[in-house]
Amino acid sequence: MNEELITIKEAAARYGVSYDRLRRAAWDGRLETRGTGHARLVPPSEVERFLQAGRGKEAPELPLLRRQDGPLGRIMTVAILKGGTAKTTTTMNLGAAFAERGLRVLLIDNDHQCSLTRTLGIEPAELDPAHTLYGAMQTYMNSRKATLSDVIMSTKSGVDLVPAHIRLSRTDKELQLTSRREYVLQQLLAPVAPLYDIVLIDTMPTNNNLVFNALVAAHEVLIPLEPEPIAIEALALTLDEVQEVRDTGLNPGLRIAGVLLTQVDIRLVVHRDLMDNIRSDFGTELPVFETFIRRSPRFPESQARKQSIFQYDAAGAGATAYRALAEEISRGWQ
Ligand SMILES: Nc1ncnc2c1ncn2[C@@H]1O[C@H](COP(=O)(O)OP(=O)(O)OP(=O)(O)O)[C@@H](O)[C@H]1O
Ligand SMILES: [Mg+2]
Repeated sequence: MNEELITIKEAAARYGVSYDRLRRAAWDGRLETRGTGHARLVPPSEVERFLQAGRGKEAPELPLLRRQDGPLGRIMTVAILKGGTAKTTTTMNLGAAFAERGLRVLLIDNDHQCSLTRTLGIEPAELDPAHTLYGAMQTYMNSRKATLSDVIMSTKSGVDLVPAHIRLSRTDKELQLTSRREYVLQQLLAPVAPLYDIVLIDTMPTNNNLVFNALVAAHEVLIPLEPEPIAIEALALTLDEVQEVRDTGLNPGLRIAGVLLTQVDIRLVVHRDLMDNIRSDFGTELPVFETFIRRSPRFPESQARKQSIFQYDAAGAGATAYRALAEEISRGWQ
């Protein structure tokens, strides 16, 4: 027999909880629903599971950021020319934080390692390469047709995704032979970005055409940085790259949204010193977010379970920090 499905409004009335609470949980993926938008339906058993699991560890109720006058259409690239600095973790969890506030969020996995795609519970090897960023870029390079909307997937974390494919590793060389190679991602995003409040682009830690495309396509860059001496060199290289994108006229208005200190262990003197130094040395010319993200095993744990930090530990310090980051960024939109 088919399981009963009810609307979120019906579920709220049946279980005596607020409509907003269930709607938010559906947006950020804590409550698994079927269908999209106002047509979302949920089996009562799932509502019961959610209410049971959430007892005592509910996320705070924050005001929605969604606007009446249409999507914001902002594009933010998450980049630094260094590996393992929480680019993917930040793309995923900042995206989920915005989704929790009711924003329409699109994440782009612009990395052939496909970490973001996997973390969102999608196995790239099972995807038709044509239905990934690789395929959309291929089509654009061959025919100048922008087909990104055909490759967007919805995910259980409440955000939409353009998945990556391992073949994206070939695209960098192919871009080298393409005219106007710096503009491919910008052209692909042009028809879809206005449908979202925010598009976040995850990048790889390499100075190549794909990362350059992500910088050309964006309004702003977020730079995640570990407070380690070696990361400072990578920060300088990344700032040079941003300057090159501006100076060549490819994207003269590219803003730096801010440096996000991540994987911080406040007990380490070296971390505390570097955090102070970064703020004092760069702080005047380079914005450094007030919010920083502490090192926590909850992040790798959540990723192993293919969940955002909001799905895995909604009331924990990691979720609280990414919520604060979303709030800090959104204050700049007023
Ligand atoms: N705040 C944190 N605390 C503890 N571990 C973290 C934190 N943020 C990220 N990590 C872990 O650090 C590792 C690297 O993170 P992530 O994959 O996000 O980095 P990346 O910059 O995207 O790496 P790459 O350059 O390879 O794409 C992952 O195992 C992730 O779970
Ligand atoms: Mg990554």
